[in-house]
Amino acid sequence: MAKTSAKSNRPSATAASATPAPAPASSPVSRSGRFGTGPAADVAAFSESISFDWQLWRHDIRGSLAHAAMLKKIGILTAAELQAIQTGFAEITADVEAGRFVWNPQLEDVHMNLEAELTRRVPAGAKLHTARSRNDQVALDVRLWLRDEMDVLAGELRALQAALVRLGARNETVLIPGYTHLQRAQPVYFAHHLLAYVEMLQRDAGRLQDARQRLNVCPLGSGALAGSTLPLDREFVALQLGFVDERGRPRVTQNSMDGVSDRDFMVEFCAVAALMAVHLSRLSEDIILWFSSEFSFIRIGDAYTTGSSLMPQKKNPDIAELTRGKTGRVVGNLMSLLTLLKGLPMTYNRDLQEDKERLFDTTHTIRACVRLTGAMLDQTEVNTATCAAAARDPQLLATDLADYLVRRGLPFRQAHHVVGAVVARAEKLGRPLNELSVAEYQSVSAEFGADVLSTFDLERAMARRSITGAPGTREVRKQLARWQKLLA
Ligand code: ARG
Repeated sequence: MAKTSAKSNRPSATAASATPAPAPASSPVSRSGRFGTGPAADVAAFSESISFDWQLWRHDIRGSLAHAAMLKKIGILTAAELQAIQTGFAEITADVEAGRFVWNPQLEDVHMNLEAELTRRVPAGAKLHTARSRNDQVALDVRLWLRDEMDVLAGELRALQAALVRLGARNETVLIPGYTHLQRAQPVYFAHHLLAYVEMLQRDAGRLQDARQRLNVCPLGSGALAGSTLPLDREFVALQLGFVDERGRPRVTQNSMDGVSDRDFMVEFCAVAALMAVHLSRLSEDIILWFSSEFSFIRIGDAYTTGSSLMPQKKNPDIAELTRGKTGRVVGNLMSLLTLLKGLPMTYNRDLQEDKERLFDTTHTIRACVRLTGAMLDQTEVNTATCAAAARDPQLLATDLADYLVRRGLPFRQAHHVVGAVVARAEKLGRPLNELSVAEYQSVSAEFGADVLSTFDLERAMARRSITGAPGTREVRKQLARWQKLLA
């Protein structure tokens, strides 16, 4: 492969298929000794993973450095050898960061690429793989990589919650109809609607934290499947790599076979991400509806919308649509992983190499959706006049009218029936509920008092919704303040 620049030093899968002849028997680390020849070119192309697992390089080096320090502690490496390995990896790190490192598909994966290059530079590199297999190595790398990604995602999720709260707070007094069956139901504050998503995302954050805690156990030392005859200090490695409990004690996997075959942490993460994506998809759908001419509740900034190549008037909510669409991928990745694992015998099987692209795709996709949705919300304005007109629909207060009768002693079932009759009467007369006279109300039921029309005072109606979780004026302010404090 030719040298490439820092930004484009990704190896491509086709590089391997372009290899004309089988590799020399000596080149891939894992084949030395046993094999007379290297893999056929099409085999190398079929089985390589460097085209995607290069992304693990930083974590692979981190794990190797911890392993090497442990090998020195138990007397397998000398201090000088450890030092040489550390220097070698520092140089390799600089090369990868600068885009100078040449990934070789014939070396199959990130683990062998890095180890081969280290050994080329440092003779002691040949001791690094002592009591280690790529099976526990890859399990370690992915845990380290995913743990970092989860921590960044947790921050991005919080930022999205903060954007929702900001949009709500900027429009604190705006009322809209709340919907069931996508039919106008009862009035709610716009902020109340947004805070529903903040609650959903908070549960996602909790699930993410929970999954992280179960992921955070060190599998290194599991070997290929059966540990090692050498006296490894697994706790020492775990401590160096931050695999610790809440009291700082090392956490290591307790069964070597489970250690190399377990991918539960990936499944859990992909499940958390899938539900998170479903939440974002529902939010996207609301945004798409609100942005339509039919609703016209919001405007989205030009930088976060797109036009049509044909229709000059169009302005489309593509960020929301793409987020809704990408949810399919994230859900699909979870299904792929579950299907991949189903039926695998103990312990490591090469099938497991298929886990990474699904995991990487989910991680990159969900992070992008979270970030872009937040950025779009920060560029979103509310059409207050349209919202006010929609929220003024007196039918939204039909339930309040029934509550009015309940307060006057009527059983709710009867009140519901009476108000239904009033609605039918108003419809027949072609007048809104708040434009019937008191006499007309009383002709439907004698239970209506002279003050019946005050039910349609929207401000009073919103003040009445004062129980916890209700979209009342005070309650929504309180919730906004609670979230502002929590997310500060
Ligand atoms: N590239 C491999 C993977 O992603 C690393 C482990 C290979 N182990 C093996 N025994 N071939 O799963």
